[in-house]
Amino acid sequence: MASDALQRELPLRPEPFDFHGVSMTKYLVDNWENVQNFETRPDDILIATYPKAGTTWVSYILDLLYFGQTSPERQKSIPIYDRVPFLEFIVPNFVSGKDQVDNLPTTPRLIKTHFPVQFVPKSFWEKNCRVVYVARNAKDNMVSYFYFSCMTLFLPEPGDWSSFFQKFLEGKVSYGSWHDHVSGWWQKKLTYPNLHYMFYEDLSEDTGREIDKLCSFLGLSPSAELKDMVVNGVQFDNMKNNQMANYSTFPAMDFRISSFMRKGKVGDWKKHLTVANNEAFDDDYKKKMKDPTLKFRTEI
Ligand code: A3P
Repeated sequence: MASDALQRELPLRPEPFDFHGVSMTKYLVDNWENVQNFETRPDDILIATYPKAGTTWVSYILDLLYFGQTSPERQKSIPIYDRVPFLEFIVPNFVSGKDQVDNLPTTPRLIKTHFPVQFVPKSFWEKNCRVVYVARNAKDNMVSYFYFSCMTLFLPEPGDWSSFFQKFLEGKVSYGSWHDHVSGWWQKKLTYPNLHYMFYEDLSEDTGREIDKLCSFLGLSPSAELKDMVVNGVQFDNMKNNQMANYSTFPAMDFRISSFMRKGKVGDWKKHLTVANNEAFDDDYKKKMKDPTLKFRTEI
Protein backbone atom coordinates (compact mmCIF):
# COMPACT_ATOMS: atom_id res chain seq x y z
CA MET A 1 0.00 0.00 0.00
CA ALA A 2 1.36 3.43 -0.84
CA SER A 3 2.42 5.39 2.17
CA ASP A 4 0.12 8.33 2.85
CA ALA A 5 3.11 10.30 4.14
CA LEU A 6 4.91 9.79 0.84
CA GLN A 7 1.85 10.94 -1.05
CA ARG A 8 1.84 14.16 0.97
CA GLU A 9 5.57 14.83 0.68
CA LEU A 10 6.31 14.24 -2.99
CA PRO A 11 4.97 15.91 -6.09
CA LEU A 12 3.46 12.71 -7.40
CA ARG A 13 1.68 12.28 -10.72
CA PRO A 14 4.29 14.22 -12.74
CA GLU A 15 3.28 15.84 -16.01
CA PRO A 16 4.82 14.28 -19.11
CA PHE A 17 6.67 16.62 -21.48
CA ASP A 18 8.54 16.36 -24.74
CA PHE A 19 12.18 15.44 -24.14
CA HIS A 20 14.29 15.10 -27.30
CA GLY A 21 11.14 14.02 -29.11
CA VAL A 22 9.95 11.46 -26.52
CA SER A 23 7.31 11.91 -23.83
CA MET A 24 9.12 11.71 -20.48
CA THR A 25 8.74 12.94 -16.88
CA LYS A 26 11.16 14.60 -14.52
CA TYR A 27 11.59 11.37 -12.53
CA LEU A 28 13.18 9.85 -15.61
CA VAL A 29 15.33 12.67 -16.93
CA ASP A 30 16.36 14.81 -13.95
CA ASN A 31 19.61 12.81 -13.73
CA TRP A 32 20.18 12.95 -17.50
CA GLU A 33 23.80 14.20 -17.51
CA ASN A 34 24.96 11.68 -14.93
CA VAL A 35 23.14 8.87 -16.65
CA GLN A 36 24.49 9.78 -20.07
CA ASN A 37 28.01 9.82 -18.62
CA PHE A 38 27.50 6.49 -16.86
CA GLU A 39 30.64 4.34 -17.09
CA THR A 40 29.84 0.74 -17.86
CA ARG A 41 31.96 -2.34 -17.33
CA PRO A 42 32.29 -4.81 -20.21
CA ASP A 43 30.41 -7.50 -18.28
CA ASP A 44 27.44 -5.26 -17.37
CA ILE A 45 24.13 -6.59 -18.68
CA LEU A 46 21.43 -4.15 -19.67
CA ILE A 47 17.79 -5.29 -19.56
CA ALA A 48 15.81 -2.90 -21.74
CA THR A 49 12.06 -2.80 -22.26
CA TYR A 50 9.12 -0.56 -22.93
CA PRO A 51 7.38 -0.37 -19.52
CA LYS A 52 5.22 -3.41 -18.72
CA ALA A 53 6.73 -5.73 -21.31
CA GLY A 54 8.05 -8.27 -18.79
CA THR A 55 11.05 -6.44 -17.33
CA THR A 56 10.70 -7.94 -13.88
CA TRP A 57 10.19 -11.43 -15.25
CA VAL A 58 13.40 -11.34 -17.29
CA SER A 59 15.27 -9.50 -14.52
CA TYR A 60 14.36 -12.27 -12.13
CA ILE A 61 15.40 -14.95 -14.62
CA LEU A 62 18.81 -13.36 -15.02
CA ASP A 63 19.21 -12.78 -11.32
CA LEU A 64 18.46 -16.44 -10.57
CA LEU A 65 20.73 -17.67 -13.34
CA TYR A 66 23.66 -15.68 -12.03
CA PHE A 67 23.07 -15.59 -8.29
CA GLY A 68 20.33 -18.12 -7.50
CA GLN A 69 22.71 -20.74 -6.20
CA THR A 70 25.61 -18.66 -5.01
CA SER A 71 23.67 -16.16 -2.89
CA PRO A 72 20.63 -17.78 -1.26
CA GLU A 73 20.49 -14.92 1.24
CA ARG A 74 20.00 -12.44 -1.60
CA GLN A 75 16.91 -14.40 -2.67
CA LYS A 76 15.33 -13.95 0.74
CA SER A 77 16.18 -10.38 1.55
CA ILE A 78 16.76 -8.12 -1.47
CA PRO A 79 13.81 -7.02 -3.60
CA ILE A 80 14.26 -7.33 -7.35
CA TYR A 81 14.17 -3.53 -7.82
CA ASP A 82 17.31 -3.29 -5.65
CA ARG A 83 19.07 -6.23 -7.29
CA VAL A 84 18.48 -4.84 -10.78
CA PRO A 85 18.48 -1.06 -10.43
CA PHE A 86 16.44 1.17 -12.73
CA LEU A 87 19.20 3.29 -14.26
CA GLU A 88 17.36 6.54 -15.03
CA PHE A 89 15.09 6.57 -11.95
CA ILE A 90 15.52 9.77 -9.94
CA VAL A 91 12.98 10.66 -7.27
CA PRO A 92 13.62 12.82 -4.19
CA ASN A 93 14.25 10.76 -1.01
CA PHE A 94 15.12 7.67 -3.04
CA VAL A 95 18.64 6.63 -4.01
CA SER A 96 18.95 7.33 -7.72
CA GLY A 97 19.12 4.33 -10.04
CA LYS A 98 22.55 5.45 -11.22
CA ASP A 99 23.90 5.54 -7.63
CA GLN A 100 22.34 2.17 -6.97
CA VAL A 101 24.14 0.70 -9.95
CA ASP A 102 27.41 2.30 -8.85
CA ASN A 103 27.01 0.59 -5.47
CA LEU A 104 26.10 -2.86 -6.76
CA PRO A 105 28.44 -5.47 -5.29
CA THR A 106 27.69 -8.10 -7.93
CA THR A 107 29.46 -9.21 -11.06
CA PRO A 108 27.93 -9.02 -13.51
CA ARG A 109 25.81 -6.00 -12.73
CA LEU A 110 22.26 -6.36 -14.00
CA ILE A 111 20.85 -2.98 -14.99
CA LYS A 112 17.32 -2.09 -16.06
CA THR A 113 16.24 0.70 -18.38
CA HIS A 114 13.10 1.67 -20.24
CA PHE A 115 14.95 4.11 -22.47
CA PRO A 116 14.27 4.13 -26.18
CA VAL A 117 17.44 2.96 -27.88
CA GLN A 118 18.66 6.46 -28.78
CA PHE A 119 18.75 7.46 -25.07
CA VAL A 120 21.00 4.60 -23.91
CA PRO A 121 24.32 5.92 -22.52
CA LYS A 122 27.03 5.45 -25.12
CA SER A 123 29.31 3.57 -22.76
CA PHE A 124 27.09 0.48 -23.13
CA TRP A 125 27.80 0.40 -26.86
CA GLU A 126 31.45 1.36 -26.53
CA LYS A 127 32.16 -1.47 -24.10
CA ASN A 128 30.07 -3.87 -26.16
CA CYS A 129 27.90 -4.80 -23.16
CA ARG A 130 25.31 -7.52 -23.54
CA VAL A 131 21.78 -6.18 -23.88
CA VAL A 132 18.56 -8.12 -23.46
CA TYR A 133 15.51 -6.39 -24.94
CA VAL A 134 12.04 -7.72 -24.11
CA ALA A 135 9.07 -6.73 -26.25
CA ARG A 136 5.38 -7.46 -25.66
CA ASN A 137 2.47 -7.11 -28.04
CA ALA A 138 1.09 -3.59 -27.86
CA LYS A 139 -2.46 -4.50 -26.85
CA ASP A 140 -1.49 -6.43 -23.73
CA ASN A 141 1.31 -3.98 -23.08
CA MET A 142 -1.13 -1.08 -23.15
CA VAL A 143 -3.62 -2.73 -20.79
CA SER A 144 -0.86 -3.60 -18.35
CA TYR A 145 0.47 -0.03 -18.55
CA PHE A 146 -2.98 1.37 -17.84
CA TYR A 147 -3.39 -0.61 -14.60
CA PHE A 148 0.17 0.09 -13.61
CA SER A 149 -0.35 3.82 -14.17
CA CYS A 150 -3.46 3.75 -12.00
CA MET A 151 -1.55 2.21 -9.10
CA THR A 152 1.85 3.91 -9.44
CA LEU A 153 2.05 7.42 -8.12
CA PHE A 154 5.36 8.27 -9.84
CA LEU A 155 3.63 7.99 -13.20
CA PRO A 156 1.45 10.60 -14.90
CA GLU A 157 -2.26 10.45 -14.16
CA PRO A 158 -3.66 7.93 -16.66
CA GLY A 159 -7.23 9.23 -16.73
CA ASP A 160 -9.92 6.72 -17.62
CA TRP A 161 -9.34 3.82 -20.00
CA SER A 162 -10.47 5.65 -23.11
CA SER A 163 -8.23 8.65 -22.49
CA PHE A 164 -5.26 6.38 -21.68
CA PHE A 165 -5.95 4.40 -24.84
CA GLN A 166 -5.77 7.62 -26.85
CA LYS A 167 -2.60 8.79 -25.12
CA PHE A 168 -0.93 5.42 -25.70
CA LEU A 169 -1.65 5.53 -29.43
CA GLU A 170 -0.38 9.11 -29.62
CA GLY A 171 2.80 8.22 -27.69
CA LYS A 172 1.92 10.67 -24.93
CA VAL A 173 2.68 8.29 -22.06
CA SER A 174 6.06 8.03 -20.29
CA TYR A 175 8.68 6.71 -22.72
CA GLY A 176 6.62 7.77 -25.69
CA SER A 177 5.45 5.63 -28.53
CA TRP A 178 5.46 1.85 -28.06
CA HIS A 179 5.76 1.55 -31.85
CA ASP A 180 8.93 3.65 -31.98
CA HIS A 181 10.40 1.87 -28.97
CA VAL A 182 10.07 -1.72 -30.21
CA SER A 183 11.02 -0.70 -33.77
CA GLY A 184 14.04 1.35 -32.70
CA TRP A 185 15.45 -1.53 -30.68
CA TRP A 186 14.68 -4.00 -33.49
CA GLN A 187 16.70 -1.86 -35.88
CA LYS A 188 19.59 -1.71 -33.42
CA LYS A 189 19.89 -5.48 -33.62
CA LEU A 190 21.02 -5.12 -37.22
CA THR A 191 24.17 -3.23 -36.23
CA TYR A 192 24.78 -4.43 -32.67
CA PRO A 193 25.10 -8.23 -32.40
CA ASN A 194 25.34 -8.26 -28.62
CA LEU A 195 21.61 -7.60 -28.38
CA HIS A 196 19.18 -10.44 -27.62
CA TYR A 197 15.65 -9.40 -28.65
CA MET A 198 13.00 -11.53 -27.01
CA PHE A 199 9.21 -11.57 -26.80
CA TYR A 200 6.94 -11.85 -23.77
CA GLU A 201 4.64 -14.15 -25.74
CA ASP A 202 7.47 -16.62 -26.44
CA LEU A 203 8.45 -16.59 -22.79
CA SER A 204 4.88 -17.30 -21.85
CA GLU A 205 4.56 -20.09 -24.38
CA ASP A 206 7.71 -21.94 -23.35
CA THR A 207 9.73 -20.45 -20.52
CA GLY A 208 12.34 -23.22 -20.57
CA ARG A 209 13.03 -22.81 -24.27
CA GLU A 210 13.46 -19.04 -23.91
CA ILE A 211 15.74 -19.49 -20.92
CA ASP A 212 17.87 -21.83 -23.04
CA LYS A 213 18.14 -19.13 -25.72
CA LEU A 214 19.04 -16.55 -23.12
CA CYS A 215 21.72 -18.81 -21.68
CA SER A 216 23.23 -19.40 -25.06
CA PHE A 217 23.33 -15.63 -25.65
CA LEU A 218 24.90 -15.06 -22.23
CA GLY A 219 27.36 -17.93 -22.57
CA LEU A 220 25.90 -19.76 -19.55
CA SER A 221 25.53 -23.51 -19.12
CA PRO A 222 23.35 -23.93 -16.03
CA SER A 223 23.07 -27.34 -14.42
CA ALA A 224 19.74 -29.13 -14.82
CA GLU A 225 19.11 -28.41 -11.16
CA LEU A 226 19.66 -24.67 -11.57
CA LYS A 227 17.57 -24.52 -14.70
CA ASP A 228 14.66 -26.26 -12.92
CA MET A 229 15.02 -23.86 -10.04
CA VAL A 230 14.85 -20.88 -12.39
CA VAL A 231 11.91 -22.18 -14.45
CA ASN A 232 10.00 -22.92 -11.28
CA GLY A 233 10.97 -19.71 -9.47
CA VAL A 234 9.81 -17.46 -12.30
CA GLN A 235 6.38 -19.00 -12.81
CA PHE A 236 3.75 -16.31 -12.49
CA ASP A 237 2.17 -17.60 -9.27
CA ASN A 238 5.52 -18.12 -7.62
CA MET A 239 6.64 -14.59 -8.46
CA LYS A 240 3.27 -13.18 -7.45
CA ASN A 241 3.64 -14.78 -4.02
CA ASN A 242 7.28 -13.83 -3.66
CA GLN A 243 7.68 -10.59 -1.72
CA MET A 244 11.10 -10.08 -3.28
CA ALA A 245 9.62 -10.17 -6.79
CA ASN A 246 6.11 -8.74 -6.50
CA TYR A 247 6.98 -5.13 -5.54
CA SER A 248 4.78 -5.33 -2.43
CA THR A 249 7.63 -3.70 -0.49
CA PHE A 250 7.87 -0.71 -2.85
CA PRO A 251 6.39 2.43 -1.28
CA ALA A 252 4.90 4.38 -4.19
CA MET A 253 2.39 1.83 -5.46
CA ASP A 254 -1.19 1.59 -4.31
CA PHE A 255 -1.96 -2.10 -4.14
CA ARG A 256 -5.57 -1.29 -3.28
CA ILE A 257 -5.96 -0.33 -6.96
CA SER A 258 -4.14 -3.19 -8.68
CA SER A 259 -1.35 -5.66 -8.09
CA PHE A 260 2.01 -5.41 -9.78
CA MET A 261 1.82 -9.07 -10.79
CA ARG A 262 -1.67 -8.55 -12.18
CA LYS A 263 -2.63 -11.25 -14.73
CA GLY A 264 0.55 -12.32 -16.51
CA LYS A 265 -1.38 -13.48 -19.57
CA VAL A 266 -1.19 -13.18 -23.34
CA GLY A 267 -4.54 -12.00 -24.71
CA ASP A 268 -5.91 -10.28 -21.62
CA TRP A 269 -6.45 -7.22 -23.88
CA LYS A 270 -9.61 -8.89 -25.20
CA LYS A 271 -11.30 -8.18 -21.91
CA HIS A 272 -10.41 -4.48 -22.09
CA LEU A 273 -10.34 -3.15 -25.64
CA THR A 274 -13.79 -2.36 -27.03
CA VAL A 275 -14.60 -3.31 -30.62
CA ALA A 276 -14.10 0.36 -31.56
CA ASN A 277 -10.77 0.48 -29.67
CA ASN A 278 -9.60 -2.62 -31.48
CA GLU A 279 -10.45 -1.25 -34.92
CA ALA A 280 -8.81 2.10 -34.17
CA PHE A 281 -5.76 0.28 -32.82
CA ASP A 282 -5.42 -1.99 -35.87
CA ASP A 283 -5.76 0.93 -38.33
CA ASP A 284 -3.15 2.93 -36.47
CA TYR A 285 -0.84 -0.12 -36.17
CA LYS A 286 -0.82 -0.69 -39.93
CA LYS A 287 0.28 2.89 -40.49
CA LYS A 288 3.06 2.80 -37.91
CA MET A 289 4.51 -0.72 -38.07
CA LYS A 290 5.91 -1.08 -41.58
CA ASP A 291 8.73 -3.57 -40.99
CA PRO A 292 7.43 -7.04 -41.93
CA THR A 293 10.28 -8.74 -40.06
CA LEU A 294 9.05 -7.50 -36.68
CA LYS A 295 6.04 -9.63 -35.81
CA PHE A 296 4.02 -9.75 -32.62
CA ARG A 297 1.51 -12.30 -31.44
CA THR A 298 -1.57 -11.02 -29.62
CA GLU A 299 -2.61 -14.53 -28.68
CA ILE A 300 -0.83 -17.86 -28.30
P1 A3P B 1 0.11 -7.77 -16.49
O1 A3P B 1 -0.18 -6.41 -15.97
O2 A3P B 1 -0.49 -8.00 -17.85
O3 A3P B 1 -0.25 -8.85 -15.54
P2 A3P B 1 7.15 -5.14 -16.08
O4 A3P B 1 7.93 -6.04 -15.19
O5 A3P B 1 7.84 -4.77 -17.34
O6 A3P B 1 6.63 -3.97 -15.32
O7 A3P B 1 5.90 -5.97 -16.61
C1 A3P B 1 4.86 -6.36 -15.75
C2 A3P B 1 3.96 -7.29 -16.49
O8 A3P B 1 4.64 -8.55 -16.62
C3 A3P B 1 2.66 -7.57 -15.72
O9 A3P B 1 1.69 -7.88 -16.72
C4 A3P B 1 3.09 -8.79 -14.92
O10 A3P B 1 2.00 -9.54 -14.42
C5 A3P B 1 3.86 -9.55 -15.99
N1 A3P B 1 4.73 -10.57 -15.39
C6 A3P B 1 5.67 -10.41 -14.45
N2 A3P B 1 6.21 -11.59 -14.12
C7 A3P B 1 5.57 -12.52 -14.86
C8 A3P B 1 5.67 -13.95 -14.95
N3 A3P B 1 6.49 -14.63 -14.18
N4 A3P B 1 4.86 -14.58 -15.84
C9 A3P B 1 4.01 -13.90 -16.62
N5 A3P B 1 3.86 -12.53 -16.57
C10 A3P B 1 4.65 -11.87 -15.70
